Amino acid sequence: MTIEREFDVVLYGATGFTGGLCADYLARRPGEHRFAISGRNQEKLEKVRDRIKNDCGVEPGIIIANSADPASLTAMAARGKVVATTVGPYAKYGEPLVKACIEAGTDYADITGEPQFVDRIIERYHEEAKDRGLRLVSCCGFDSVPHDLGAYLCARELPSDAPMTVEGVVRSKGTFSGGTWHSAINAFSNFREHLDARKKSARSRGPATSTRRVGNVKKGGVRYDPRVKGWLVPLPTIDPEIVKRSARGLDLYGPEFRYGHYARVKKLPTVIGGAVGVGGLFALAQFGPTKNLLLKVKDPGEGPSAEERASAWFEVTFFGEAGGKQVRAKVAGRDPGYDETAKMLSECALCLAFDRERLNRWGVVTPAEAMAEPLIERLRDRGMTLEVSMA
Ligand SMILES: NC(=O)c1ccc[n+]([C@@H]2O[C@H](COP(=O)([O-])OP(=O)(O)OC[C@H]3O[C@@H](n4cnc5c(N)ncnc54)[C@H](OP(=O)(O)O)[C@@H]3O)[C@@H](O)[C@H]2O)c1
Repeated sequence: MTIEREFDVVLYGATGFTGGLCADYLARRPGEHRFAISGRNQEKLEKVRDRIKNDCGVEPGIIIANSADPASLTAMAARGKVVATTVGPYAKYGEPLVKACIEAGTDYADITGEPQFVDRIIERYHEEAKDRGLRLVSCCGFDSVPHDLGAYLCARELPSDAPMTVEGVVRSKGTFSGGTWHSAINAFSNFREHLDARKKSARSRGPATSTRRVGNVKKGGVRYDPRVKGWLVPLPTIDPEIVKRSARGLDLYGPEFRYGHYARVKKLPTVIGGAVGVGGLFALAQFGPTKNLLLKVKDPGEGPSAEERASAWFEVTFFGEAGGKQVRAKVAGRDPGYDETAKMLSECALCLAFDRERLNRWGVVTPAEAMAEPLIERLRDRGMTLEVSMA
């Protein structure tokens, strides 16, 4: 189905750190796409527009919309084929926009990494979005596009009639922004509430569309792995949840699918130091006064400099096995948190807007469920490594 709208993509949150990088990316990217930048503050949006106009000679539209004003969000969503949003923390500000996109009949993409937000929108909006032929795609940034597509590439090359195992091993260098810091501290502080909600909600594991058994690789805990010449530390991010949701939704993943997700660390003391650090942050985020102190460490809107981003990189190696066949995949790129996240979100939005005839899943869907093949092609064309070979 084709829809006619004033803009192909409306970028919501364009005045923020990641939103600004997305706006630059959309302006510099070759193509015929028409896009608007959106947010709650006219003056800040005009500054972004003027910067883009000076740097790239492109003049995006401006749309004012505030997360506290649902009518403004619906009016904004009605002007685009797709809304891509970088307004977070999503658990705090995200839901009204999802609702607005459903009302306006507009596809949606975000870069959340907050499981409680994703659970909530699956629970509340999956059926309605599916009935209305819309795609709501969360986790279109470093959380969780590389991991979702890497596991998909393995599954695509393995026999789909045998139990399948995929392990993803992440290495990266980079730092983070104020917005990411605030989202992480909020997620830590709401963690217990999230676990309670999750226990009550079988739907949080994603819409059941198959009888496939999907779970975690059984080897738990930290272990040395000679394949990567380092220690594997299980990573309890949203990424394994997204990979497993894709495995439930797509037929490639065998009658039984298991996934393991790890950070690769060279030396054991680094593992212990990291665990102590994260545990400390988690504990401090549980109490109002200490949580407020943590939030003051980095302000929203701040982020790593161009020099810091230029030296950042990521590489995720995947080891897949099914029916005696083994494959290895690699997904890699430059600064994971910001430059590549801006690229991934922008390409997801362009894919939803321009590759509609190749997409055949609706509802609250993962990046791989929604658009695996055209998205892989797009990201390769834009310089990211996504490759798979026999091990
Ligand atoms: N998944 C990933 O890999 C990844 C990577 C990077 C970032 N993120 C996530 O993306 C989000 C943004 O990060 P960031 O560093 O770009 O944050 P940021 O610089 O603080 O930007 C936040 C944006 O949200 C806007 N905003 C806040 N409250 C609003 C409201 N009530 N109505 C409308 N707009 C509102 C801000 O607008 P004003 O300018 O008007 O304040 C700003 O444009 C965070 O949740 C972060 O965790 C995820």
